[in-house]
Amino acid sequence: MQIVTAATSPTPATPDAIAQAARVIRAGKLAAFPTETVYGLGADATNGTAVAAIFAAKGRPRFNPLIVHLADRDAAERHALFSPAARALAARFWPGALTLVLPRAADTPLSLLVSAGLDTVALRVPDHPVARALLAAAERPIAAPSANPSGSVSPTSAAHVVEGLGDKIDFLLDGGPTPLGLESTVIGFEQGRPLLLRPGAIAREEIEAVTGRLAAAGDAIRSPGQLASHYAPRAALRLNAQAPQAGEVLLGFGDAPGATLNLSARSDLKEAAANLFAMLRTLDSTAARIAVSPIPSQGLGEAINDRLTRAAAPRSGPETMPR
Ligand code: TXA
Ligand code: MG
Repeated sequence: MQIVTAATSPTPATPDAIAQAARVIRAGKLAAFPTETVYGLGADATNGTAVAAIFAAKGRPRFNPLIVHLADRDAAERHALFSPAARALAARFWPGALTLVLPRAADTPLSLLVSAGLDTVALRVPDHPVARALLAAAERPIAAPSANPSGSVSPTSAAHVVEGLGDKIDFLLDGGPTPLGLESTVIGFEQGRPLLLRPGAIAREEIEAVTGRLAAAGDAIRSPGQLASHYAPRAALRLNAQAPQAGEVLLGFGDAPGATLNLSARSDLKEAAANLFAMLRTLDSTAARIAVSPIPSQGLGEAINDRLTRAAAPRSGPETMPR
């Protein structure tokens, strides 16, 4: 007899379902849940075996550390050393789409695996009612990378999670499409100076209003997830395209005649960010070549162009996993 593993189907995020997801996490299993950025694949961050199961489910390289999600700033301060600059950023942006990479506190119960061998840990207090209710009910920090196979496009709906990881997770809370649609902005520090490790859903300009000019992350890959090919669809991407060529579909932005889909016909970068991953997935399932309109590089455009550049990069290296 053939044994078939049924894919986990989404459960609407009612209070009962959230309580159930919290029990799944407390039992050391994997529960996916919505945040304001993208869906996360959650596990108890203090349970090394549970955290290891995240890496296995995603096919994630062991050198790529995870973000730990917390209920509030007080909870976050128990696990890492906050400089005054880090505290100012947390006060301004938490709860929200900001991740801070900070030195681990000596006595933190967080699994060493969440840091993947580094002496820092990435922390975030999410701003989504379902994520917040789950953190409150689980009463523990939740490690959660984006809920997609390593190297593929991040999920902005429960259906995307089922597509990529449905048979590898124990529970999936469906909270509808995620409002921001881009992962959090990741900020680290070097000798006290703030560094932009990953552009994301909070624009550089907003962060710089608090910190002053952000240094570039430099040549070294300080945020190990920032490898060239990532967010990779199957289709080939051609960026800064004025018009589609033969055999291409066009992912437009602004006034883009001939576009099959448009990230934002009214040139709104926030709307484009929210649409980016879902539209890439849709076009990827129907076309082999995707041309993309030019996207301005200010504001959220920096993060959108970052993801598009990675999606267009040649596919090689450990982040490129078969899907
Ligand atoms: O919006 C988000 O950030 C989503 C939701 C679920 O919260 N999560 C997410 O996680 O995007 P993930 O694992 O896909 O991306 C985490 C990024 C990676 O680029 C990783 O290398 C970096 O954060 N990171 C995590 N811990 C780090 C550390 N200790 N030092 C440097 N970079 C770190
Ligand atoms: Mg990811």
